[in-house]
Amino acid sequence: MAHFTKPDEGSWTEHYPELGTAPVSYEDSISPAHYELERDAIFRKTWLNVGRVEQLPRVGSYFTRELDAARTSVIIVKDKDENVRAFHNICRHRGNKLVWNDFPREEVAGSCRQFTCKYHGWRYQLDGELTFVQQEDEFFDLDKSDYPLVSVRCEVWAGFIFVNFDDEDTTSLKDYLGGLGHDLEAYPFERFTQVHKYRAEVGSNWKLFIDAFAEFYHAPVLHAKQATADESRKLQGFGFEALAYGIDGPHSMVSSWGGMAPPKDESMVKPIERVLRSGLFGPWDGPDLGELPPAVNPSQHPKWGTDTFFFFPNLMVLVWKPGWYLTYTYWPTSYNTHIFEGNLYFVPPENASERLAQELAAVTFKEYALQDGNTLEATQSMIESRAVTSFPLNDQEVLLRHLHKTARDYVAKYQAERGETPVDISAS
Ligand code: FES
Ligand SMILES: [Fe+2]
Repeated sequence: MAHFTKPDEGSWTEHYPELGTAPVSYEDSISPAHYELERDAIFRKTWLNVGRVEQLPRVGSYFTRELDAARTSVIIVKDKDENVRAFHNICRHRGNKLVWNDFPREEVAGSCRQFTCKYHGWRYQLDGELTFVQQEDEFFDLDKSDYPLVSVRCEVWAGFIFVNFDDEDTTSLKDYLGGLGHDLEAYPFERFTQVHKYRAEVGSNWKLFIDAFAEFYHAPVLHAKQATADESRKLQGFGFEALAYGIDGPHSMVSSWGGMAPPKDESMVKPIERVLRSGLFGPWDGPDLGELPPAVNPSQHPKWGTDTFFFFPNLMVLVWKPGWYLTYTYWPTSYNTHIFEGNLYFVPPENASERLAQELAAVTFKEYALQDGNTLEATQSMIESRAVTSFPLNDQEVLLRHLHKTARDYVAKYQAERGETPVDISAS
């Protein structure tokens, strides 16, 4: 992992010459053709985070994920040897979705000893082996061992479960996550078992919401009402500058200052935050986590507050100084819609005040995320007008340049491998 120090000369962006500094096109976020290519070139070719190991507490625990972008649904399960496995959620008999409850397109979770198909009762072990066929002798030379569930590559990093639909690729998850993954891996994610989850259907391209969390340029303006009026005026006066940006292959990070948990002056924050000793930056009296891994606060700044780690294509992990973390995932459902998931992870509260402090952080997060999400449809609908086709990005928006370039590069590589004519998404 390189490039953590502010260059002596020039800017963050100029530190990455391959990104350029010219205005950019957003055609990759408004072209249905580009999205169709992203599904195969990105969502069926990279490691995708589908959950955490805490969601599979015991043998037989399972959950399903509807991965529209990757054109499938998967079952994630802990088998009898306690391995985490993934399978396409399809019965080998006549293709019924194997695991679902009342509504076939809804994700489910539970625990079982085997999977039984609702249609004709075929049964599969937790390792995918087909063990029972109703009226087996009615079939023609059927050998059950030829019909296991179709497995999906599945690996775990730091308790995060990932799947990969590219059976030809041999890159391990660890290698894929690169130096950034390596340098973050020792963070004590396993301690944070108190989880609050949000999910939203958003009317924008998936990359636009990542953009909203990859820069803080908007924060003093879009989130102005979250601070007291005085504080907000001050913030707008000096704007925002991050502590560090890092790019590592397709992945990236931005490190930001804090100072809000606790604030140096309590009059900076709202009365409820003073009472509950909590806010957007988390509970003020969080756990002591000891020494943090090298990816965290890379500039070693004393006023550090939070780091946002982005693992391409759609996982963000935010580590906060007061001792908690957040994840965001963005699951496209069309070129201009996606499902956003925001999960907050705390150490289990030991008393009512700790619980309330965590809940205030969770509801404050929701308010911020709604403010961030609110601009997305407004942006999507207008960039689709193509009334403007090239947009100037500033130095604080360096990770946006990188994200959109990375997505375009994956698509271009995929098309080149197939000898296809590239879709034209150049800035005009
Ligand atoms: S489709 Fe599953 S048993 Fe027939
Ligand atoms: Fe924001």
